[in-house]
Amino acid sequence: MVLKDKVAIITGGASGQGKASAKLFAEEGATVIFADLNEEGGKAVQQEINDAGFKAHFYKLDVSDEEAVISLVNEVKNKYGRIDVLFNNAGIGFGAKYKMASVVEADTNDWKAILDINLNSVFYFTKHVLPVMIEQKSGSVINNSSAAGLVGQPGADAYTASKGAIISLTRVWAVTYGVHNIRVNCICPGSIDTPMMTTVLDMKPEAKEYLPKITPLGRLGKPEEIANTALFLASEKAGYITGAIISVDGGWTAK
Ligand SMILES: NC(=O)c1ccc[n+]([C@@H]2O[C@H](COP(=O)([O-])OP(=O)(O)OC[C@H]3O[C@@H](n4cnc5c(N)ncnc54)[C@H](O)[C@@H]3O)[C@@H](O)[C@H]2O)c1
Repeated sequence: MVLKDKVAIITGGASGQGKASAKLFAEEGATVIFADLNEEGGKAVQQEINDAGFKAHFYKLDVSDEEAVISLVNEVKNKYGRIDVLFNNAGIGFGAKYKMASVVEADTNDWKAILDINLNSVFYFTKHVLPVMIEQKSGSVINNSSAAGLVGQPGADAYTASKGAIISLTRVWAVTYGVHNIRVNCICPGSIDTPMMTTVLDMKPEAKEYLPKITPLGRLGKPEEIANTALFLASEKAGYITGAIISVDGGWTAK
C-alpha cells in the first residue's frame, strides 16, 4: 500500500496506460480521481475499481478545456483537502481526428489542436494543481511523454513537439518546485499495447511484425508496465528522484 491515504489525479484514465494506472494506484491505497472525455469507458473503469473495494471517481472532462480543469481541481481540493499525485497522461496519437504529419503536409489547425490536447493540458493541470502541492509542501507530478519526444521520428511533428516540450517542462518544473518538496518526473513509453497502438496497427498492419523486431526486448510493452513505473515515481520509494526522464521502451531508444 505505497499510496495509502494519498489523493491522486490521473488524466486519460478511461483507457490504456491511464486505466492501468488508475487501477494500480487505487489498489495501492490511493483515492483516484481520473478525468477523461470517454464517458462510457470512464464509468466502466470506476465501476471496476469500486467493485474491487477501492476508491476511484471518474470525471468527464476535456483536458484541453482550462475552465473544466480548474473546476475539477477545485472540487478535489474542497472534497479531499489535498492532492498528492498528478499523472498527466492523456494524449492523442495517430488515428485521432487530427492528422499527424510532417511540417510541410501538416494542417495548421490540426497542429494547434494536437498541441492543445497533448501539451496545453499538461500546462493547465500542473498550473492549477501545483499551488495545492506547494501549500501542503509535498507532491509528485508525473508526465507521460513518449520515446517520440527523445528522437527525430518523422511523420508526426505536432505529436513530437508536444512530447519534447513535456520533457523540457519536467526538467524546469523539477528545478523550480523542488524547494517545495515537489518531485516532477517524466516517463517516455515506447510501443505500448493500448487502444492507441491498436489504431496504429490497424492503419499499418506491417508494424505488427517490425515493431517487436526493432525493440531489443522483442515485444510491445504492456500498459501495466507504465503503471508500475508511474506508481514508483508517485510513491516515497522514489523520494530522491526528480527531473528524471525515464524510458520504458524495451530498449528502443538505447540503440
Ligand atoms: N501506446 C503507445 O504506444 C504510446 C507510446 C508513447 C506514449 N504514449 C502516450 O501515453 C499516453 C496514454 O496513451 P495510451 O497508449 O494509454 O492511449 P489510449 O488511447 O488508450 O488512452 C488515452 C486516453 O486519453 C483520453 N483522451 C484523449 N484526448 C482527451 C481529451 N481531450 N480530454 C480527456 N481525455 C482525453 C482518451 O479518451 C483515452 O482514454 C498518451 O499521452 C500517449 O501519447 C503512448
